Amino acid sequence: MLLWTLGALWLQCLVLITASSSSEEEDGSSERDSEEHLESSSHPHWKHDDQNVWPANFYHCGGTSQSPININTRTVIFDPSLPKINLEGYDLPCKQSLKLKNNGHTLQLSLPETMRIVQGFNGVFLAKQLHFHWGTPEIPGSEHTVDNTHFPAEIHVVHYNSKYGSIDQAVSQPDGLVVLGVLLGIGLHDNENYEKILSSIKNVSTEDSDTEIPGFNVRLLLPDNLERFYRYNGSLTTPPCFQSVTWTVFNESITLSRKQMAMLEDTLKAHHSHSLTKNFRIPQPLHGRPVLCSFRELPAMEGPRSYIPYESDVDPSKDVRSKNEAQGPNSWISSGDIWATAFGTLFTVTLLSFLVYAYRQQKKYSRLKNGAKQNVIYKPASKDDV
Ligand SMILES: *[C@@H]1O[C@H](CO)[C@@H](O)[C@H](O)[C@H]1NC(C)=O
Ligand SMILES: *[C@@H]1O[C@H](CO)[C@@H](O)[C@H](O)[C@H]1NC(C)=O
Ligand SMILES: *[C@@H]1O[C@H](CO)[C@@H](O)[C@H](O)[C@H]1NC(C)=O
Repeated sequence: MLLWTLGALWLQCLVLITASSSSEEEDGSSERDSEEHLESSSHPHWKHDDQNVWPANFYHCGGTSQSPININTRTVIFDPSLPKINLEGYDLPCKQSLKLKNNGHTLQLSLPETMRIVQGFNGVFLAKQLHFHWGTPEIPGSEHTVDNTHFPAEIHVVHYNSKYGSIDQAVSQPDGLVVLGVLLGIGLHDNENYEKILSSIKNVSTEDSDTEIPGFNVRLLLPDNLERFYRYNGSLTTPPCFQSVTWTVFNESITLSRKQMAMLEDTLKAHHSHSLTKNFRIPQPLHGRPVLCSFRELPAMEGPRSYIPYESDVDPSKDVRSKNEAQGPNSWISSGDIWATAFGTLFTVTLLSFLVYAYRQQKKYSRLKNGAKQNVIYKPASKDDV
């Protein structure tokens, strides 16, 4: 057990060293990010099928802070200083109608600027639109992956920094956009909140068609728990791929029924009546970017993974899942791991100190012996010296 722990620690050290050196190499090459975005107007056409040639046609798509990414839950960095996200005006009155559109790339719902993020970021961010990414019934189509696994779909709620006059001005600024992302899975029941959008999807089946839907509580499209999230600096996931997005991907996912997911996957048509599916970009290289995490996970070195929810979300009435995971047998395995790690670390430190000590002693000894040899000429050579 101890040896195993030591081995794991050693590996972690190696990984850390490799990771930090590779990020140093890559950081140097990302200086020349130009502000102009002529690309968007001179190359208006792009498709998800062609995403490997986006960088050739849209300069920013070849940048070093692109989205989406894979979120590796074992290497995300717990940051207890990440502020709580506070939303305002998300509960829209039904008399306020919203435009739902098939723009040929996605299903997009326009949102009023009265919806805003008032806390959690540097400044106030105003909502502009939300849209979806999906695959087919066979191919899960989320953009972000968690531990290299795609979810069936993903929703993005796009906001822009209120210090800029419009989203057009904000979209190319490093602090221009905040996108909230939620991974969508399949559950047993219809999701009545998503039904507010999906019930009208048939009305926008052809490319560039739109319709109006009554306002509803957009907050309910997001997870109950907004306090567990991943955070990183990234980009638009479609051309022109501006690296202007502060990304938040929530750890809690949302489920739609299989039937609802199928509506998203089957209904919309794009150019030449091709069905609009697989509108996701594949995960992009991190290039040394940190991915922060607002909640703590214990290092699970063996057995099933487990974590302790971020302090403030231990609300047993609200979140059944975190409650179960915090109280289940896994937490005992994890506390065992903590002790193993602690002892392993202690042991490693002791061993290293001992080795250093032994090495120094050896050096001292051989120096003494060399000194002795010069002075005592008749000392017979011992076998150790050969
Ligand atoms: C949506 O389509 C249905 C028929 O499928 C029609 O009855 C309804 O009026 C349409 N709604 C809008 C807002 O166009
Ligand atoms: C994003 O970039 C800004 C500006 O360089 C930096 O201050 C911030 O720490 C970065 N955030 C993350 C999550 O890396
Ligand atoms: C949520 O976090 C837990 C703990 O790190 C992880 O096992 C799980 O895959 C995460 N799920 C998502 C959707 O991020």
